[in-house]
Amino acid sequence: MKYITFALAKGRLAKKTMSILEQIGITCEEIKDPNSRKLIFVNEELKLKFFLAKATDVPTYVEYGAADIGVVGKDTILEEGRKMYEVLDLGLGKCRMCVAGPEKARELLNHGELIRVATKYPNIAKDYFYNKKHQTVEIIKLNGSIELAPIVGLSEVIVDIVETGSTLKENGLVVLEEICPLSARVVVNQVSMKMEHDRITTLIKELKELINKEEVK
Ligand code: PRP
Repeated sequence: MKYITFALAKGRLAKKTMSILEQIGITCEEIKDPNSRKLIFVNEELKLKFFLAKATDVPTYVEYGAADIGVVGKDTILEEGRKMYEVLDLGLGKCRMCVAGPEKARELLNHGELIRVATKYPNIAKDYFYNKKHQTVEIIKLNGSIELAPIVGLSEVIVDIVETGSTLKENGLVVLEEICPLSARVVVNQVSMKMEHDRITTLIKELKELINKEEVK
């Protein structure tokens, strides 16, 4: 039997994903060792492999078939725009993609002024402003601490993830527009879905049943 390979976004999401998989009988003790620098783990009995990748690379591994299945945030899926099937919402890490800024930027947004938008997600920002709002903006790509941009005058607004809202609040910023809800999703390589249809669909079905049960609780 061929191995089915999982690409997990390393960090908190990978840990939560492993604990969900454990509940449907898929275990991997090795992956839990906090001192290990190992990147790939095997469950010989079930013929499964797991590897930890940088979140933004998970869609790449899945599109090319280096992983059959991936677990990654919807933000990364939208930003990377890779060809793959999104099959399940795990409901983990729920948050929102938003346009945020100082309250005074609301007017600029509403009047369709040529504003600057700082973001770690240039493709999501472009799609939102150009295709949905038909508004011309200048997009500035940053790599983190996006909230700084409007404070120091790099941009008028930002496009970023809002979870609790406390980062915005502590920096005197507010949500101006909501782009979309986000959470962790299961994605599948398009060829793997055909070649390993039975094993993959059984797995997805079990995950789905578990999640539905948890939601009822
Ligand atoms: C994310 C996001 C916000 C913050 C939102 O940043 O970019 O800054 O979390 O969370 P909150 O609404 O609960 O305050 P992250 O910690 O991932 O770091 P980053 O600065 O590298 O984006």
